[in-house]
Amino acid sequence: MQPTAVLSLLLPLVAALAARQDQQPGPCDPEPCYEVIDSAACWSAVLMGQEKNATKIFDCVPGGEEEMCRCYGCDSILDKFVVSHEMCS
Ligand SMILES: *[C@@H]1O[C@H](CO)[C@@H](O)[C@H](O)[C@H]1NC(C)=O
Repeated sequence: MQPTAVLSLLLPLVAALAARQDQQPGPCDPEPCYEVIDSAACWSAVLMGQEKNATKIFDCVPGGEEEMCRCYGCDSILDKFVVSHEMCS
């Protein structure tokens, strides 16, 4: 087998592993994050596009951005939304 063939076999594997890393859920500590879970009706409206301004999810909890960024991993949909909008980097 040519070295390049080995490389082309390995690359998808490496890419798959990197993708898995990306799918690690964000932070979620149930104790301080109950407000984020509680306010699901509020931020899900933003996730569903009823509210165009994505940063409005920060208005859903008293702790705002700091609290949301500590807790978005509590919900897999919220997690994807925050990560894809790069809202907590
Ligand atoms: C989006 O909402 C945030 C928080 O309420 C506000 O500060 C910002 O000005 C809004 N941006 C737009 C484009 O409306």
